[in-house]
Amino acid sequence: MPDKAVEISGLSYIYPDGQCGLKEIDLTISCGESVALIGPNGAGKSTLLLHLNGILRGNTAIMVQGLCVDDKNIREIRKKVGMVFQDPEDQLFSLNVFEDVAFGPVNMGFTGEEVDRRVKQALKKVGMQGYEKRSSHHLSIGEKKRIAIATVLSLDPEILALDEPTSSLDPRGKWALIDLLQKLPVTRIIASHDLDLVRCLCSRTVLLDYGRIVADGGTSTILGDEALLRAHGLARDVTAAGI
Ligand SMILES: Nc1ncnc2c1ncn2[C@@H]1O[C@H](COP(=O)(O)OP(=O)(O)O)[C@@H](O)[C@H]1O
Ligand SMILES: [Mg+2]
Repeated sequence: MPDKAVEISGLSYIYPDGQCGLKEIDLTISCGESVALIGPNGAGKSTLLLHLNGILRGNTAIMVQGLCVDDKNIREIRKKVGMVFQDPEDQLFSLNVFEDVAFGPVNMGFTGEEVDRRVKQALKKVGMQGYEKRSSHHLSIGEKKRIAIATVLSLDPEILALDEPTSSLDPRGKWALIDLLQKLPVTRIIASHDLDLVRCLCSRTVLLDYGRIVADGGTSTILGDEALLRAHGLARDVTAAGI
């Protein structure tokens, strides 16, 4: 098994309309690490995540679990990187929960009992056994988030990339999700504004702003640096507030 989960060097990305998404990103993440991507709205967190499984491609090749993210490896990469989007509606589109969670395995060529086994196991991991026949669209937001995670766990990913996993959850739903994520033995890369989540789940934090990495280090060091957080819109600017 490779010891590097992600290797990115000099990655820049410009959206088709000319908007800059990322600028010269250098980032190496070891297998088993749990890394938070923080930064204000528009910093490039989602853009960076979308490069990890080749949804977006920038100016330079990036490596995931020792494989180059290119057309040749894309199926393998998508098995290795479970991408959980911010809005579960982007991930849930089948008639019922079973079909949503089975979608990945079926798409990868698994059949019959193996699909059943994978769905059962993924639902168990997110505490949603018994929901197979429910319509995904009629679930609560917290339940939808769990099913969205199950849709990627059914492929046994080595890396989980989560975009704002606790957004729009109430405190109970948020802490339940944090507990769930803590139990999953995978490399975790989590874009989030939720500093509780970051403190609980991530020993390392990468701070982005305007598409660049502006700080990368231990979570307690970065979150303890009020001036740094303030400079990048993550803590209250008392001067701006006129206090
Ligand atoms: N589909 C898109 N088309 C054009 N610009 C985009 C698109 N998605 C994001 N951007 C721009 O790219 C930059 C980074 O956005 P994003 O990665 O979504 O930030 P974050 O997730 O940190 O809020 C922002 O300036 C944003 O406006
Ligand atoms: Mg985002």
